[in-house]
Amino acid sequence: MGGRRKVTVVGAGNVGATCAQELARRDYADVVVVDIKEGLPQGKALDVNQAAAVLGYEATVTGSNGYEESSGSEVVVITAGLPRQPGMSRDDLVTTNEKIVTSVTEQVLAASPDAILVVVSNPLDAMCHVAKDVSGWAKERVFGMAGILDTARFSTFIAWETGMSIKDVTAMVLGGHGDQMVPVVSATTVGGIPLRKLVAEARIQAMVERTAKGGGELVNLLGTSAWYAPGAAAAQMVDAIVLDEQRVLPCTAYLEGEYGIDGLYMGVPVVLGAGGIERIVELDLDESEQAALRASADAVRDVVGVLNS
Ligand code: NAI
Ligand code: 2OP
Repeated sequence: MGGRRKVTVVGAGNVGATCAQELARRDYADVVVVDIKEGLPQGKALDVNQAAAVLGYEATVTGSNGYEESSGSEVVVITAGLPRQPGMSRDDLVTTNEKIVTSVTEQVLAASPDAILVVVSNPLDAMCHVAKDVSGWAKERVFGMAGILDTARFSTFIAWETGMSIKDVTAMVLGGHGDQMVPVVSATTVGGIPLRKLVAEARIQAMVERTAKGGGELVNLLGTSAWYAPGAAAAQMVDAIVLDEQRVLPCTAYLEGEYGIDGLYMGVPVVLGAGGIERIVELDLDESEQAALRASADAVRDVVGVLNS
């Protein structure tokens, strides 16, 4: 495999394979894809390797049912687990994915003891707790992807509503990755213009609501959850870490007093670099946003309460 850096994606399903493909195209690291399903990670890896001939990247993708090939990874993205299907209760998903994330974390720990863990499996905030508890690693090295995706959804609706480029939308969605997430309207601008100067309040509230239920909208359309935007969002976090970009991105971080919340994983803006979460950024929220964030924290605590560990 030469002297390239190494990133592992666990779970070769929709999100994992998309993330692996995004990463291969970046061409800064070799990528290892691990899945328990025989043939699946090998097949996805072969396909992405053959795409390299057309697209022109030199990264090697390796598929495996074990963790040996992944040893010494700098970053491990965990996408293993069931996606939510129509009719599936939240608690069903917690119990099943808790077992999967526990087993994956134990094996990652052994193969890549110096890695940074990016959790994607749902329910996201609770699965971050599982990965942190099982690994015993510092909070700076164990965190989750949700806020980039939720913010991407909000930004898309804003670009459509204003008729302005998606590139000029700056938004931030905080809180848990559930229906109680908090799109921070006070910090949302298009080309530096506050959103409230561009769009009427009722239309903003409709976009906030559509964002909060954004995952469900996709599940209803697809019969399973989304993968293009989630895979790209996870890859953006890997970029920030591997390339030490110091990006300010909404990530699911372990809070110890920030935003008045203690001992809980929640989505907040962080500075992401080679050390993982290098800093948590505290925005000045208005009163209704603060109240919404507290309600979101309560919802996350409820899900964390369902965990067996
Ligand atoms: P998928 O079903 O397409 O892929 C999941 C893969 O995990 C399967 O290939 C399965 O064989 C594998 N797997 C199961 N147990 C495993 C184990 N013990 N070790 C290794 N691999 C294992 O599902 P999809 O759509 O890729 O979603 C993956 C997870 O990501 C789900 O929990 C989903 O809810 C979550 N998700 C989270 C998002 C977020 O914003 N945080 C966004 C989208 C999905
Ligand atoms: C999503 O938001 C279900 O977490 C998944 O698309």
